[in-house]
Amino acid sequence: MSLDDRRFRDALGQFATGVAVITTMTAEGERLGMTVSSFNSLSLDPPLVLFSLHRRAHSFAAWQQVSRYAINVLNEGQEELSNRFARAKGEKWIGVSPLSGKTGVPLLPNAVVAFECEVYGRHDGGDHEIFVGRVVEMHENLAKRGRPLVFFGGRYRHLVDGSAHALPSEADFMHGW
Ligand SMILES: Cc1cc2nc3c(=O)[nH]c(=O)nc-3n(C[C@H](O)[C@H](O)[C@H](O)COP(=O)(O)O)c2cc1C
Repeated sequence: MSLDDRRFRDALGQFATGVAVITTMTAEGERLGMTVSSFNSLSLDPPLVLFSLHRRAHSFAAWQQVSRYAINVLNEGQEELSNRFARAKGEKWIGVSPLSGKTGVPLLPNAVVAFECEVYGRHDGGDHEIFVGRVVEMHENLAKRGRPLVFFGGRYRHLVDGSAHALPSEADFMHGW
């Protein structure tokens, strides 16, 4: 089956996500960072998360070598940071003063939450590779915890308070969620 590329992208864009920047330090001491919307939870026990990287990303080969990284969930005021870390090879770190995680990986200040991970596995994902990480540390209280930046329909969005709906209480269909 061949799907029209534009139609496929537009349809996928109907799934709202957050925006994260994955960060790491190479063995040579170079900091890497890339904006991703493919971050997702995977497993509670063991604690696993995932994201996917395009094989044509400039830093793809370097990401395949690292054994630790952080996933920084951006807040709604960090659009500029998202754009900056989405620029190929750009001077992504200028003016950013990263914190240092427990495992030595760089963390972005003011992220809503950051997960420090060890590489758990990498899997074929077509033109992407799926990176599965085991979470070894979490930082929920980075300086200015705020509302998350949302990505939907190819645009950044902000959450508007006022309409939150609880799940049914007997939600046993959720397997521990
Ligand atoms: C909101 C947003 C989400 C993105 N999500 C992903 C993603 O999940 N995976 C990916 O490989 N690239 C994603 N990108 C594109 C990368 O951030 C971009 O290709 C970046 O330039 C890669 O860095 P590099 O080329 O320096 O390695 C996303 C970009 C934006 C703006």
